[in-house]
Amino acid sequence: MADAIEDLLSESRTFPPPEHFAKDALVTDTSLYDEANEDVEGFWARQALQLDWFQEWDTILEWDRPWAKWFIGGTLNVSYNCLDRHVAAGHGDQVAYHWVGEPGDKRTITYADLFDEVQRAANAMKALGVQRGDRVAIYLPMIPEIAVTMLACARIGAAHSVVFAGFSAQALRDRIDDAQCKLLVTADGAWRRGEVFPLKANADEAVDGAESIEHVLVVDRTDSEVSMQEGRDVWWHDVVATADPTCEPEHMDSEDLLYLLYTSGTTGKPKGIMHTTGGYLTQVTFSHRYVFDLKPDDDVYWCAADVGWVTGHSYIVYGPLANRATSVIYEGAPNFPAEDRLWSIIEEYGVTQLYTAPTAIRAFMKWGDEHPDKHDLSSLRLLGTVGEPINPEAWIWYHQTIGGGRCPIVDTWWQTETGAIMISPLPGATTTKPGSATFPLPGITASIVDDAGHQVGVPGGGYLTLDRPWPAMLRGLYGDPERYEQTYWSRFEGRYLAGDGAKRDADGYFWLLGRVDDVMNVSGHRLSTTEIESALVSHEAVAEAAVVGRADAVTGQAVAAFVSVRNGVKTDEALARALREHVAHVISPIAKPASLLFTDDLPKTRSGKIMRRLLRDIAEDHELGDVTTLANADMVDTIKQRYLASASTSDDE
Ligand code: WTA
Repeated sequence: MADAIEDLLSESRTFPPPEHFAKDALVTDTSLYDEANEDVEGFWARQALQLDWFQEWDTILEWDRPWAKWFIGGTLNVSYNCLDRHVAAGHGDQVAYHWVGEPGDKRTITYADLFDEVQRAANAMKALGVQRGDRVAIYLPMIPEIAVTMLACARIGAAHSVVFAGFSAQALRDRIDDAQCKLLVTADGAWRRGEVFPLKANADEAVDGAESIEHVLVVDRTDSEVSMQEGRDVWWHDVVATADPTCEPEHMDSEDLLYLLYTSGTTGKPKGIMHTTGGYLTQVTFSHRYVFDLKPDDDVYWCAADVGWVTGHSYIVYGPLANRATSVIYEGAPNFPAEDRLWSIIEEYGVTQLYTAPTAIRAFMKWGDEHPDKHDLSSLRLLGTVGEPINPEAWIWYHQTIGGGRCPIVDTWWQTETGAIMISPLPGATTTKPGSATFPLPGITASIVDDAGHQVGVPGGGYLTLDRPWPAMLRGLYGDPERYEQTYWSRFEGRYLAGDGAKRDADGYFWLLGRVDDVMNVSGHRLSTTEIESALVSHEAVAEAAVVGRADAVTGQAVAAFVSVRNGVKTDEALARALREHVAHVISPIAKPASLLFTDDLPKTRSGKIMRRLLRDIAEDHELGDVTTLANADMVDTIKQRYLASASTSDDE
């Protein structure tokens, strides 16, 4: 039978852990993998013991597929594990967050400061009527109060639901209604490229008529004029500053809800992903420590994601704080006031680990090397990436230009649903290959199956699935158990369907190939988007590329490419032809794009993922679907006009 997805691109460069890095790394051999293979439940139980429990569990795992419970009978508090225990151990003066505001203001927040602020916020929320078991919506920019609010919720046993501050009033309202949130925490405004985005006005529109909301707690971030509704709205600085500074942590059950996080998806109603307490904290703490090789006494760690996404939940807030990390949080855009903002922050704070997304890395490549070159980045010792497959050429650029050729790169595959990193190198132990997330972490198994659900061999490609429960896995979709079973567990018996295509190479390495919904079928060949895009990005003129399959009378589908070039490159017919030939040459003539359009930008979701569905609509001249979830909706029409104008001139052979 034909491969579920063809294997097109082969990458032969390998990068063993650098000696200077491995010398002091937490993990340098396979012992953690061996330990987990021998007794996986015992392995996770030993990881859980790194946390402080009020009451230890009596059963490690109950698996009634697809429903998992971890550390049953155990009680703990997440904020206690992130704060109290570090302060009690004498680390109150250690910096938890170096916070950098977009306009240039700064705050240094120690563990003692955070501990104090969280307890006050927890008491203020209680005074506003929030109780254990309630839900709290958070619609805040990247200011310290977002972490404070999340931890305060965890402290009193209320689940939070963070809604990314770039989302619309309607998106916020839908999420508030779905979870029946009692309190909304927001700010007057948010800084965005030097301008104020009216967060409170959006919040007002969202809660107008929302029956579950009793109060709106408002942080003054931008000193903007806002209207405060008497009896409903209160200022953070009024109620938090004056609140009692001690608040005992609730003893939460290991399976109590810690938070909801809605994935917008590209179609349908947002899904309220549920994460619980003990298993989640165990796996994020474990993965944060080992994947980033975290040394809490020396490192300055920076995850440059937004707290509004799962990456921020797990790797800005919970993992780093549970591990007593010192982190950087930056509020604003990476190109404000100039394209070197990140590099200047790294230099200023001596950042040792940087974790960001391929979409950001490709933007940095496009802006040019002169921006990082202006700064001393020698403090960096490890780089990470998450969110999309990373094109090998972008990996190499990151490694050379940002990492100075000395930093291992951890390409981490995971999802909102998985809660924590699942497939990733361990930087002191794993030889990496540019573009491969390498292997499942200790305690995790993943397998690739074909259309019939049979495991493909090695090498081989198909659907990525997970066949064993993991501690941080989602515990369902809020209010919709059937949709949980249907979406993730019904396609292949006994397997969690990730929705991503993947292949393993002859050495067993895992390569992520993009969403299976985006796979193209050209003359009976199933082609992944990732490999053709990577072939395009391997050309020196290209910064970013997206390909989609558009209907074609002869071949079923034909590859349509959208390409944005590096700064200073001239785009013309000759370059388009050269790029199409380049794909034919590095992959195969079957993958050669039938058409290629240059564009300044590609449509992206607000978390930076390329929205190929919209490009498909453009390529097939369909009515454009919903563009309101896009970060850059205005450019879609421009691409469409240019595509239609050029369609007549492209040589569809
Ligand atoms: C994609 C983000 C390739 C993938 C943590 C996944 C990746 C989706 C990688 C989840 C990676 C994430 N390589 N693809 N290293 N990391 N993805 O829920 O398609 O925002 O299913 O979680 O991002 O996105 P989400």
